Amino acid sequence: MITLENITKTYDGSATVHALKGINLTIEDGEIFGIIGKSGAGKSTLVRCINMLERPTSGRVIIDGQDMTALSDSQLRAERKNIGMIFQHFNLLSSRTVFDNIAFPLELVNTPKEVIRKKVDDLLELVGLTDRQHNYPSQLSGGQKQRVGIARALASDPKILLCDEATSALDPQTTKSILELLQDINKRLHITIVIITHEMAVIKEICNRVAVIEGGVIKEEGRVVDVFTNPQSQTMKDFVKSVINMQLPAGIAKMGITDQPAPDRNVLVRLRFKGSATNDPLVAAIVQKFNTYVSILYGNIDYIQDEPFGYLIIVIMGDMETQAKALAYIKGLPIESEVLGYVPRNH
Ligand SMILES: Nc1ncnc2c1ncn2[C@@H]1O[C@H](COP(=O)(O)OP(=O)(O)OP(=O)(O)O)[C@@H](O)[C@H]1O
Ligand SMILES: [Mg+2]
Repeated sequence: MITLENITKTYDGSATVHALKGINLTIEDGEIFGIIGKSGAGKSTLVRCINMLERPTSGRVIIDGQDMTALSDSQLRAERKNIGMIFQHFNLLSSRTVFDNIAFPLELVNTPKEVIRKKVDDLLELVGLTDRQHNYPSQLSGGQKQRVGIARALASDPKILLCDEATSALDPQTTKSILELLQDINKRLHITIVIITHEMAVIKEICNRVAVIEGGVIKEEGRVVDVFTNPQSQTMKDFVKSVINMQLPAGIAKMGITDQPAPDRNVLVRLRFKGSATNDPLVAAIVQKFNTYVSILYGNIDYIQDEPFGYLIIVIMGDMETQAKALAYIKGLPIESEVLGYVPRNH
């Protein structure tokens, strides 16, 4: 488990920068935890504080009960073997082959040659680069380079893998394959993975939980499914919007929506759902209970990993009283709903 207790980081230069302003975060063993934020939000600073490449100005970093901030530099070097890291620009050694890049951390601690051979062979197989082991980084694609980065990070059998924008230099297809590899590593080797990104699509693809950081402060955190279906902070709402279209379809927007009920108007409602709950029984229930009609204008369903979530836009018809009763009924249900407005009855 990784616990960050009230971490601050201040850079003193010509101008003082408060990069982190009191971060509290707990990351459980075996999780894939995402940290998302815009450029300059403090993501890299935060992740570098986890492995103490950057010493926090104040606060504590506790990993599996060990207070990292209390360690000397040499103790830290030993502890850091438990924490692998991969980077946006891969940081490979250009004069070394794929094999020798992966072997590098093992050579540094004088691992016997045969042990290195076996270990690197296994890692090459894990990341699917056995046939590329004699190539130099310049002969590889971005995705292949990142696979080398991942294999190198795993060479010292870490318990934690930190990924700082590890897919930001890759195209969407390659990003997907790297994320799949990370997920595979998480499952097979039970490594806790911390993913730093500015892309919500990355979070949606593989993270279990997510925290959003802005101006050195965590604005919101939670299970990815919850955050996607019900973001609380403006920052998270903006990020969610970048991957999920919550805009009203143009045709609906053109219907002439007003915000007050009227005798000649029907209410327009957006229902959100997640998990296995769907709205079909709800629509049927309204029709039955209130003896009116409901028309479904728009539906959208998406998946966060294997969990479905989405929304439905419906128009509830009938006189004003019937509509009000139906709305009150919906509000009383454990489903998220939102009145979008009122549209002319002839629709
Ligand atoms: N070594 C440093 N010295 C001074 N200021 C720094 C240093 N490193 C980072 N900062 C500042 O701290 C703030 C947070 O930077 P950080 O690199 O953590 O952001 P980030 O979220 O990783 O951004 P990006 O998405 O662009 O990588 C920024 O204002 C940055 O200018
Ligand atoms: Mg960064």
